[in-house]
Amino acid sequence: MTNNKKQLLALPTDLNPQYLPQHVAVIMDGNGRWANSRGLPRIAGHRQGAKTLKELLRCCKDWGIKALTAYAFSTENWRRPTEEVDFLMLLFERLLRQELAQMHREGVRISFIGNLSALPDSLQVQMQRSMLETLNNQAIHFTVAVNYGSRDEIIKVCRQLAKLVQQGELSPEQVNESIVEKHLYTADIPEPDLLIRTSGEMRLSNFLLWQMAYTEMYFTDIFWPDFDRAAFYQALLSYQGRDRRFGQVKPSLSA
Ligand code: FPP
Repeated sequence: MTNNKKQLLALPTDLNPQYLPQHVAVIMDGNGRWANSRGLPRIAGHRQGAKTLKELLRCCKDWGIKALTAYAFSTENWRRPTEEVDFLMLLFERLLRQELAQMHREGVRISFIGNLSALPDSLQVQMQRSMLETLNNQAIHFTVAVNYGSRDEIIKVCRQLAKLVQQGELSPEQVNESIVEKHLYTADIPEPDLLIRTSGEMRLSNFLLWQMAYTEMYFTDIFWPDFDRAAFYQALLSYQGRDRRFGQVKPSLSA
């Protein structure tokens, strides 16, 4: 291991531990292009991408970041070639089987968000099992969005609230931000402070649209499989240079 890599095992000293994002969300883009650029099949990019995600989870834990959410499969990803979709489903299941015990030992709480009922039965079983088993873990909350679409999620909330109004359990005037948030998949996860999207694309692609109203965005040209600790460090440096005002005027400027 190089000196540089060794140093990155701990939080780099020029990052302020008091001002780290508590919750980082990632759109893991560029697996296919990473593989193509090496003359490999796309699935090799996903396999490497999964390793990158595992390493980022460990890095977040090492550096004191309490939540990581990854966009693994969108509601639109079903349109990919069947072999690629099948491979991704198998990869999720295999990784869960292989990694669950160690993640549990390391205090990782795992959650899955999205319309899980459309996924293969055996994958759903693994997902439910891992969520239940790790429910009380405190080191880091790792959420994986699978068959997730933000518009789908918001429609689901609208339907649930409409039903409550129809049943007379809620009045239309009582519908507010807090009630909507309690019905989102992310009800028990704080909003992301930082979103990272790799591979040069600068879109949200239907990911956590409600939850990211005030999230800082970071885009990098690096393909996801190459997104290592050094790249994450650059993202955090950029984050720490931001001035987050949440729509307000800074107190020093308002006087
Ligand atoms: C986007 O790159 C990547 C995906 C749609 C799949 C992401 C899945 C993983 C990294 C595996 C993660 C594993 C677990 C357990 C969560 P792309 O295929 O769109 O790349 P391209 O834009 O270069 O074609």
